[in-house]
Amino acid sequence: MATQGDLETVLLPLLEVIKDLHSQYQSLKEGTVANYIPELAKVNPDLFSICIVTVDGQIYEIGDLEHLFTIQSISKVFAYGLALEDHGRDYVLTRVGVEPTGDAFNAIILDEQSNRPLNPMVNAGAIATTSLIKGAGATERLNRMLDMFKRYIGHDVFVDISVFTSERSTGHRNRAMAHLMLNFGMIDQNIEESLDLYFQQCAVMVNCRDLAVMAATLANKGINPITQEQAVKKTYIKDILSVMYTCGMYNFAGEWAYKVGIPAKSGVCGGILAVVPQKMGIAVFSPPLDRRGNSVRGVKVCEELSQRLGLHLF
Ligand code: DON
Repeated sequence: MATQGDLETVLLPLLEVIKDLHSQYQSLKEGTVANYIPELAKVNPDLFSICIVTVDGQIYEIGDLEHLFTIQSISKVFAYGLALEDHGRDYVLTRVGVEPTGDAFNAIILDEQSNRPLNPMVNAGAIATTSLIKGAGATERLNRMLDMFKRYIGHDVFVDISVFTSERSTGHRNRAMAHLMLNFGMIDQNIEESLDLYFQQCAVMVNCRDLAVMAATLANKGINPITQEQAVKKTYIKDILSVMYTCGMYNFAGEWAYKVGIPAKSGVCGGILAVVPQKMGIAVFSPPLDRRGNSVRGVKVCEELSQRLGLHLF
């Protein structure tokens, strides 16, 4: 097994490794696609892609790479970076904690002492984070969010209107969380605008390669390795990766840290984005989810990639 030190020596067969994992897990039929957002239930469960982008800009990929899907919870990582840039670490910490929950991503729970949502990766914390995004009105806030995604991805991005409206009209649980946080003064009065922005950020369309470039940007201290653009200030990379590491996989975060050992974030779209600092970004897309809302094939592929390439940080 390779160690991080000799990762360079395994880059050449990287394509062979992901091809192998792709054919190994294509036939795995476990999990169910998310259906609590009606539009997401329409996805083909057989779609499957894996992409790795190294910090020097090499791309290794296999599968349904051109298929566009909505980014969902993976967006929370990037919105957190923008909120940190808008307000600084100290202020953001007064509104959103950094403790793993051990609960489901949509649990309606706030910290008993501070009334803060526990972390920015669960829905409550992500709604609070998005409420911090600056801008004079809904359009400017959305445009700032889209510009931020563009820096990470390297091209314009768009919101899938069907998924956005589907979630806006059914997202009562998220709306309940927003009202609870308004009650405790954790978010401001303008909750419908912030909820819209949250649903829009979740409905940003990406493909598997886009996710891998975003992951590689985080691995590369905030600089997109393809365009060389600084997507987020370097000083916030450690904040972002720390909450990804401890909270990014929800109530599977501990087992993930133990077995895979790298910061990651999943979404109910079936995407997983993982970061090997200073080395590479990894993305897997496969819609069927386990009971915690993580992609079944995505978890398996990352576990094996970590083992075969020696990616665990410790
Ligand atoms: O707010 C929601 O429920 C979705 N827009 C995002 C949830 C999500 O992706 C959780 N991930 N596993």
